[in-house]
Amino acid sequence: MPTHEAGALHAGIPAPAWLEVPADVNALFQPLWPRTAFKKDDAVLQVGGITVTDLAAQVGTPAYVVDETDFRARATEFKESFATAFADLAGARVHYASKALITVGIARWLVEDGLAVDVSSAGELEIVTRAGMPPDRITVHGSNKRDAYLERALATGVGRIVVDSLQEIDQVERIAAATSTVAPVQLRCSIGIEAHTHEFIATSHEDQKFGLSLADGQAMEGARRAAAAPHIEFLGIHSHIGSQIFDVEAFAQAIRRLVKFTALLDASLGGPLTELGLGGGFGVAYTTGHDPMPIPEIAQGMADLVARECQREKIGVPHVSVEPGRAIAGPAGITIYTVGVVKEVTIPGGGKRLYVSVDGGMSDNIRTALYGADYSATLASRRSAAPPRLARVVGVHCEAGDIVVEDEYLPADIAAGDILAVPVTGAYCHSMGSNYNQVPRPPIVAVRDGLANVLVRRETQADLLARDLYA
Ligand SMILES: Cc1ncc(COP(=O)(O)O)c(C=O)c1O
Repeated sequence: MPTHEAGALHAGIPAPAWLEVPADVNALFQPLWPRTAFKKDDAVLQVGGITVTDLAAQVGTPAYVVDETDFRARATEFKESFATAFADLAGARVHYASKALITVGIARWLVEDGLAVDVSSAGELEIVTRAGMPPDRITVHGSNKRDAYLERALATGVGRIVVDSLQEIDQVERIAAATSTVAPVQLRCSIGIEAHTHEFIATSHEDQKFGLSLADGQAMEGARRAAAAPHIEFLGIHSHIGSQIFDVEAFAQAIRRLVKFTALLDASLGGPLTELGLGGGFGVAYTTGHDPMPIPEIAQGMADLVARECQREKIGVPHVSVEPGRAIAGPAGITIYTVGVVKEVTIPGGGKRLYVSVDGGMSDNIRTALYGADYSATLASRRSAAPPRLARVVGVHCEAGDIVVEDEYLPADIAAGDILAVPVTGAYCHSMGSNYNQVPRPPIVAVRDGLANVLVRRETQADLLARDLYA
């Protein structure tokens, strides 16, 4: 029942166009929250069968909380959707993008659930191998791979290495030759499409560091070199066009260009390429303003297009891989914080903005400061009868840009000691975390069936000082 007949308190601050005044400021907008999350009587938030108040008592705040059921359900949905959609073609494999969020415990879920992974560093490779990921299910990325990383990848027997430069082709050939191995290789291509939320631009020359360009002939040169290298098995081309993509036309354009280039390579290299890597980038809802497409529909759309384009180019359909990170980890995770200082700030023009400070900030979620990302939040530890008030959630750091949630309606009586929960923080929050201001990083806690399982413990001041040789 709405409890704020007086209406929302804007205090002279304009809200962004996508942000609607909630009918009940206590209610969860369910699409943003992990599948097991709900508020009992619209009061205390529960996830994985545990209340956030119990979680806060057990592990403290701030804490990253991962709904294991939700994470594994999303991973499985990806795996099954792509397997089904590509069943009548040459098949498809889903590589979870470890960069979004990886721990040994999470990698074990992926092993058990039959997912493959991609890694972007020696550190990520170490985590997934420790979890027992079968090597042939690992794809190795990186735009500036060190010898030690490639040596480790080859010694592990990874399924594929995605080479990112002409220099790296020679590097892989040299290392494979020295160890008498044959490196399975895909070639990362930049295809003139850079896609972002809601819009994409197509340019003939991309001004960014990844891949070899189709437009300037470097991709063709790379393919020739890889195909001719005696210690390289050249499997196919790969492309990743961006992140948080909602526009299916961007994926469609990418498939058209990649299939066309594969056909050109098949003709000029004298043999069919058997694989096609389509990367990740599937968008998720961070706020009520986002509406992602269901995964089975995306998978089917991609399969239909790959089949049609291969038919048009008169080539055999390659085996396809995709690399979702955000779309699996993002919505499965939330961050819980404790509220501290709450203050009104008079802004230019005379309005008053409510600043709600929490005990974390840009060190546990850099995306707001880095990308201007939008998030939402809810009062998670009690029900409030106060009207919604437009607020900004900020952190503990010594930085004006230390913003966690730019704009959100929170109960006007939000106060120190309340627990605030921010949804969709499973991807690129812990993995991009820092120790700015010597703030120790929060733990990652998996929740399921009423049990909290600490995957990564909270960092301590002692951890930070351990690296300081004068401490
Ligand atoms: C090569 C590659 N694959 C997959 C991903 C994962 O993207 P997302 O988490 O948006 O699905 C990335 C992200 O940067 C990437 O660079």
